[in-house]
Amino acid sequence: MRGGRLTGAQQNALDELWPYYGIGHHQTVLDFDDYFDRRADVIVEIGFGNGESTWRMAQQEPDKNFIGVEVHQPGVGHLLMALDANGIENVRIAREDAVGFLQRRIPADSLAGIRIYFPDPWPKKRHHKRRLIQPEFVRQMARCMAAGGILHLATDWQPYATHMLQVMQSSQAFSNLSPTGDYCWRPDWRARTKYEQRGERLGHEVRDLLYQKLA
Ligand SMILES: C[S@@+](CC[C@H](N)C(=O)[O-])C[C@H]1O[C@@H](n2cnc3c(N)ncnc32)[C@H](O)[C@@H]1O
Repeated sequence: MRGGRLTGAQQNALDELWPYYGIGHHQTVLDFDDYFDRRADVIVEIGFGNGESTWRMAQQEPDKNFIGVEVHQPGVGHLLMALDANGIENVRIAREDAVGFLQRRIPADSLAGIRIYFPDPWPKKRHHKRRLIQPEFVRQMARCMAAGGILHLATDWQPYATHMLQVMQSSQAFSNLSPTGDYCWRPDWRARTKYEQRGERLGHEVRDLLYQKLA
């Protein structure tokens, strides 16, 4: 977990709401039925930040179950408060590193979608290896996703968008849904995120990348 200063309200949310919304850190493969009271397509959102986009999409897509994964405690607290305040039932949260979470806990071919909005861009060349979107992680996501599932990436950092395109092009498991073979327009159902709004204020162009998992 990454620390950071928690407000009193976030700490209360972690104390009181985590037992309901939280997915504990275990080694065993998840049974989604243990966490959701109905069967539905499961979408994983990785690195949800303060979770504003998470609860909004869960509200807009009530027919789906969502699992948000985030390492930043205040963000987890913020999302817990928003879920409670808005009466949202179709989200559960894992507060751990998404790489290990997918590897250990997600059954093969089980996810209808993975959404990764504005992952840390790591602009310096010597830090590029820290970027989340790497061939090995793409293989892991492919293992987790059902055929036909949608992988949705977005970034406001053009060099990272180019990197994402290159990494995804080298995967045999996904087909790019862009009519031009590169980027897509932001779909209406993707709420704008906090980090995205920061990028827009800085004049950054936002890139959405959409891929379908092949059979
Ligand atoms: C640049 S922020 C974007 C947050 C949010 N998606 C948004 O657009 O406002 C990236 C987020 O990813 C989280 N993160 C980075 N690496 C992660 C990992 N391996 N597992 C889970 N979360 C991660 C960070 O804590 C951070 O909140």
